[in-house]
Amino acid sequence: MGELDGKVALVTGGCSGIGTAVALDLARHGADVAIVDILAGEAAKEILSAIEAQGARAVALTADVADRQRAPQVVAEVQEMLGGLHILATCAGINRDAVIWKMSPEEWEAVIDVDLSGTFFYCQAVAPVFREQRYGKIVTVSSINGLRGKFGQVNYAAAKAGVIGLTKALAKELAHSHVNVNAVAPGFILTPMTAAMPPEAREAAVAEIPLGRPGSPEDVAALVTFLCTERARHITGEVIKVDGGQYI
Ligand SMILES: NC(=O)c1ccc[n+]([C@@H]2O[C@H](COP(=O)([O-])OP(=O)(O)OC[C@H]3O[C@@H](n4cnc5c(N)ncnc54)[C@H](O)[C@@H]3O)[C@@H](O)[C@H]2O)c1
Repeated sequence: MGELDGKVALVTGGCSGIGTAVALDLARHGADVAIVDILAGEAAKEILSAIEAQGARAVALTADVADRQRAPQVVAEVQEMLGGLHILATCAGINRDAVIWKMSPEEWEAVIDVDLSGTFFYCQAVAPVFREQRYGKIVTVSSINGLRGKFGQVNYAAAKAGVIGLTKALAKELAHSHVNVNAVAPGFILTPMTAAMPPEAREAAVAEIPLGRPGSPEDVAALVTFLCTERARHITGEVIKVDGGQYI
């Protein structure tokens, strides 16, 4: 018996890094999972097999989370394919780092569109479903850099701080419908996103971590799953760091 037996989860950004780990961990605890990703397709096949190997049903849908029209379609398709929807984890995200005096309007907009508006579109699309059924769990993915800022990341820090404001406001709006809404704020986690950083920037990030090691996607997934269980039923509007103490 898994804690999430009978539940259906939609995980954006499920084709890589933290999103894949979240999809697998939710499945390991009994949930059926829809992964939604701009790169779903060939890339998703192996992940779907891994989810199915946990005994869960799995589907993949291709979508750009920044596409406002697509979000309600995706939610309806997931409900149709998996027979319901109870959990949303918004893991899709990008970074386009540059200092402000070199940041192009496109770099600003891309990060706000995907990281902040993409989170908003999927929260807005599931809200009527969760309100109607008086049940739901939403976990957004922020970042410690949305709490503390980071040199070269005004776009990313603004988007991730925006995700925190969205999460707290939405927690208040959905509380009377018994929907929990929380944010996780990872520190430096080993994923393709951080693999693309220059080696010296990666070393500097790890050097900031009192626990002395970078985080893994599974470290984040464990918290996301917990927030989706009834053991976390009295936690809402919270922002929880998973960062080995990187930002204390
Ligand atoms: N890795 C870290 O250290 C770290 C730290 C803090 C926060 N985060 C956040 O965690 C989340 C996952 O990051 P990750 O490190 O696993 O990154 P990743 O690049 O490994 O995975 C991101 C996934 O999102 C998908 N994606 C990107 N743009 C999309 C779009 N427009 N529509 C749909 N899907 C899209 C990508 O295809 C990819 O599968 C992001 O929101 C990121 O900002 C990561």
